[in-house]
Amino acid sequence: MKNNNILISPSILAADFSMLGQEVTNIDNAGADWIHLDIMDGHFVPNLTIGPDVVSNLRKYTKKLFDVHLMTNPASNWLQPFAKAGADIITIHVEVEDNVQESIKKIKSLGLKAGISIKPSSSEKIIEPYLDYCDLVLVMTVEPGFGGQKFMSSQLEKIKNIKKMINNKERNILIEVDGGINLETSKLCIEAGANVLVAGNAIFSQDASNYSKLVKSLRNET
Ligand code: DX5
Ligand code: ZN
Repeated sequence: MKNNNILISPSILAADFSMLGQEVTNIDNAGADWIHLDIMDGHFVPNLTIGPDVVSNLRKYTKKLFDVHLMTNPASNWLQPFAKAGADIITIHVEVEDNVQESIKKIKSLGLKAGISIKPSSSEKIIEPYLDYCDLVLVMTVEPGFGGQKFMSSQLEKIKNIKKMINNKERNILIEVDGGINLETSKLCIEAGANVLVAGNAIFSQDASNYSKLVKSLRNET
């Protein structure tokens, strides 16, 4: 049975970068709900990935929602370029130095959904002021910067607390989890209240013929 409550957003960071278009096609055909795009600037995190031109080129390979995770500092100067490149959701980190509230407003004014992300070391209290405006909270369950890291179970309590904070607001805000998500940790995150699961290595380290089975298993479909 399809678990309609849980969305899977595969992170192409773990895909084969020499054939990204094909990988996006494969994961779309495998039933992914969204496509997670990790944007790293070598400053906010110690790694570099892709810019708006790559995202714009990938746009023609799928109609699935582009879930752009912006790990840049500042964030504000990248909102317009990624919107233009075809992003549907832009998520920025609350830890950036420029104005988070202004960036959320800007993302919404570009006609997109706005997400806020929080690092493992940051307290959930810092997201409170933004819950009246954002559409999604992305809880990092590894230190941002690299795929293939171990899930930090210390973040499960944070997911539960954020769920409570959202329930109090009575707004429709999704909780997305990112980092070390596999068949075991996905269950823990769903139990804690997550609605959207990002998975990189759990999917892309396998042969493309297994993507569909993995997406279903991560969704906890029976
Ligand atoms: C890390 C990225 C993640 C990462 C997840 O900074 O935000 O999206 O690609 O990869 P896995 O699932 O391999 O931990
Ligand atoms: Zn990510």
